[in-house]
Amino acid sequence: MNVKITETVLRDANQSLMATRLPEEDFDAILKTIDQAGYYAIECWGGATFDSCLRYLNEDPWERLRTIRSKVKNTKLSMLLRGQNLLGYHHYSDDAVRRFVRKSVENGIDIVRIFDALNDTRNMRTAVEACLEAGGHAQGAICFTSSPVHSLDAFAALGKEIEAMGCQSLCIKDMAGIMSPQEAYDLVKTLKESVSIPVVVHTHATTGLGSMTYLKAIEAGADGIDTAISSFSGGTSQPPTESLVYTLEQFGYHTGVDFKKLKEINDFFVPVKNKYMETKVLDPYVMGTKADALTYQIPGGMLSNLVAQLKAQNAIDRLDEVLAETPKVRADLGYPPLVTPMSQMVGVQAATNVLLGERYKSIGKEVKAYIRGEYGKAPGPIDPALAEKVLAGQSPIQGRYAESIAPEFEAAKEYLGDRAESEEDVLSYIAFPAQAEAYFDYRAKKREEEEFAKALVTTYSIQEVK
Ligand code: CO
Repeated sequence: MNVKITETVLRDANQSLMATRLPEEDFDAILKTIDQAGYYAIECWGGATFDSCLRYLNEDPWERLRTIRSKVKNTKLSMLLRGQNLLGYHHYSDDAVRRFVRKSVENGIDIVRIFDALNDTRNMRTAVEACLEAGGHAQGAICFTSSPVHSLDAFAALGKEIEAMGCQSLCIKDMAGIMSPQEAYDLVKTLKESVSIPVVVHTHATTGLGSMTYLKAIEAGADGIDTAISSFSGGTSQPPTESLVYTLEQFGYHTGVDFKKLKEINDFFVPVKNKYMETKVLDPYVMGTKADALTYQIPGGMLSNLVAQLKAQNAIDRLDEVLAETPKVRADLGYPPLVTPMSQMVGVQAATNVLLGERYKSIGKEVKAYIRGEYGKAPGPIDPALAEKVLAGQSPIQGRYAESIAPEFEAAKEYLGDRAESEEDVLSYIAFPAQAEAYFDYRAKKREEEEFAKALVTTYSIQEVK
């Protein structure tokens, strides 16, 4: 039996442990070795990498992808895409989604993992279609969560829908690391009986369950797992690649991964990790095991956000109340999975309810938009009193919200004029307008400086010749 191993050090591990602050130059020299290690795929793009390149690293995310592709010639490259939200936090127009996905594939992505925060497949369809049209591998993802409205039957139906959409594989995405080994076993077994496409599992080590969850998932027939090279594994990142490969091979599974190459890769990343530990970009806090997340059933990242938020408001003594309020708000909203952007919405609303001493005295802008149906269909019914308070007699959107968004590409292209040098530039602007513009300015200035320096050198050498 084969188990496909996807290495996440460049994307999810980087995102989970160090807020996606790893610049391309810090991993460039190891890309060729990563390509030789025998991984099924390397997750290297999407998620927060795009935003982070523009916002913090002064890097062109498309250029990063092309550089990786030029050095990783044999292994598949994969990315994570938030469906109609692309790599951002709100829905984009269909034309933007189509072009973005096509360009992702054209620039080097093989596998596009597509999910929707509410598991509303209407928000995945455009991206899946565009991926298939571009010749990419569309992997549909189910956001794992547990609630009275989420059942094995409902997940099986969702898996079938994703297969019918044309996806070539299915991913169970446990962003919070709260899927237990038994839950993984049951869910994988159910999905394997329901669909004929491969099923891969993605979890995090956050609660300490990760490696056990993977083993039970594989026992139930999972075709692949996501792991991170050991120096960038554990805590809020993925379980370690080496340990999983070692264990699976002993159990008689074939991973195709070369253990010697894994050592080379890890030896390369150890000093990189140490450097960021020293500068506190990598906070040791995220490396710990957060078993509390099992009690509260909320992601580790959301827990640390709540703590930070309450500390900033001098209200950390109310944490227990906020933690008790969080599942109630989630229930009122029809049990959305706690993944971006729902985790932020639910957390902030729970804190607001507690701190103002009255539930829903103030309702967040995004929560209102969610209740109006702008994020898609809620998994379960929304509390009627809360819905009435927001909708005030009006009915929520029935169709797909993206249909009400005007095409974005041509307008953005016209607005940018010469500053956009490619279709990719226009897409960067549509995705993150302010960050992309700041990056274009930086790029222009840098080129000017380089040309000035070149001119100086030329003048100097001419003088020397004389
Ligand atoms: Co993840």
